[in-house]
Amino acid sequence: MLNKKVKSIVLAAGKGTRMKSELPKVLHSIFNKPLLGYILDAVNKTDYVDENFVIVGHEAEKVENFVNANYSNAKCILQMPQLGTGDAVNKAVPYLKNFDGYVIVLNGDIPLITAETIKNFIEFHDNNHADLTVMSAIFENPKTYGRIIRDKNNKFMAIIEEKDALPEQKAVKEINVGIYCINWKTVSDAFASLKSDNAQGEYYLTDIVKWAVNQNLNVQSYIIDNNEEVYGINSKVQLAQAAKLLNQKTLIHLMEEGVIIVDPSSTFISPETTIGTDTLILPNVYITGKNTIGKNCKIGPFAHIRDGAVIGNNVRIGNYVEIKKSVIKDNTNVSHLSYIGDSELGAHVNIGAGTITANYDPISKVKSKTIIKDGANTGSNSVLIAPVTINEKASIAAGSVITKDIEAYSLAVTRPPLRIISDWVKRKIEQLSGGIK
Ligand code: UD1
Ligand code: CA
Repeated sequence: MLNKKVKSIVLAAGKGTRMKSELPKVLHSIFNKPLLGYILDAVNKTDYVDENFVIVGHEAEKVENFVNANYSNAKCILQMPQLGTGDAVNKAVPYLKNFDGYVIVLNGDIPLITAETIKNFIEFHDNNHADLTVMSAIFENPKTYGRIIRDKNNKFMAIIEEKDALPEQKAVKEINVGIYCINWKTVSDAFASLKSDNAQGEYYLTDIVKWAVNQNLNVQSYIIDNNEEVYGINSKVQLAQAAKLLNQKTLIHLMEEGVIIVDPSSTFISPETTIGTDTLILPNVYITGKNTIGKNCKIGPFAHIRDGAVIGNNVRIGNYVEIKKSVIKDNTNVSHLSYIGDSELGAHVNIGAGTITANYDPISKVKSKTIIKDGANTGSNSVLIAPVTINEKASIAAGSVITKDIEAYSLAVTRPPLRIISDWVKRKIEQLSGGIK
């Protein structure tokens, strides 16, 4: 139990100029999830934070739509124009009047931070009865980050930005991660007092350290040792590197839990996918979103599982198969070249090569469900036009287009009758050679 309640402020108003993009930085994605989503999920997972404030500005409407659609405990606050990180937090001050608790402030561009680290950080602040705690890390290459400046007694005095730093300050390797825990009652007055007399002409959030030191408040730094978690994203190169780090971490975790991954360098699995023991993941598999995959399955090579798949045990998802929002029960095969979307497949179903669940009507924009019950099978190149149900043990002939429900144990065929015209080729050849002579 903490001594006080906790709220968060996530800074997401900046343009992210270095991304060279029309999309705001915090909406760039890793495994289809925006960077901002990673931060808010980590904060919510701590169980300490009951309310989040997201500071929006650049392309505010887009960021707000994402937040409102996914986080019922988050409220967006507009910062217009964007005058710096200190100004951003100042915009939340009216919403936190009389709040007597802790506020954690997080930059919106640190997607790899974990709930566990945030939790330990808040607990450290609480145990120390601190007024202000800054998360820091030791970087061999501290360039672009703000430096943690200490006096000769090692007392934490200030954060100096790279652009404002003297040569001896630039040599400091302890950097500001961009995550702060603030005892709101004693520190919130700092925001109105910030000045923009610095190299960037911005109101720096980091200047609250100097302010708190001047007020003789208890200011701490919490040095974390897992530097990968605090990797900040300012460019598309860094976005790709963060995605790689997250993927590596996820694959190692899955292998440690008993999943077989043949080629980690060509395998991409989102962190929100769980996979059972002895499931074999073959090369070039790409899995995004939230999925559950059972034991002893065989996935790939070249399979794409997009989101919302719930796959049982002993299931085969083969070459060039795409699966989206579908439930697939035990012992079912979807072996090659098929698309299974918005579907429910029972146990012991066999999906023939090139079966397509036609789930989307582009005119009405409605998506519909395909249900395939236990033991049913589809022949190669069949198209199931949803909504449609294929009942137990029914069989769909190859090349059929299914527009109605099919009853159990029956065969469904939609196929023009086969015509065989004997000697047709022979006559053609004779005709041609006769013409030439
Ligand atoms: C900031 C810190 C720096 C730290 C680094 C860690 C300051 C002054 N500096 O620098 O000490 O080492 O993060 O990554 O805080 N934002 C707003 N409104 C604004 C400006 C920015 O909401 O007016 C948001 C951005 O969207 C972003 C976050 O604040 O999510 C950080 O902004 P950014 O410009 O990336 O700060 P840095 O220069 O990296
Ligand atoms: Ca940054």
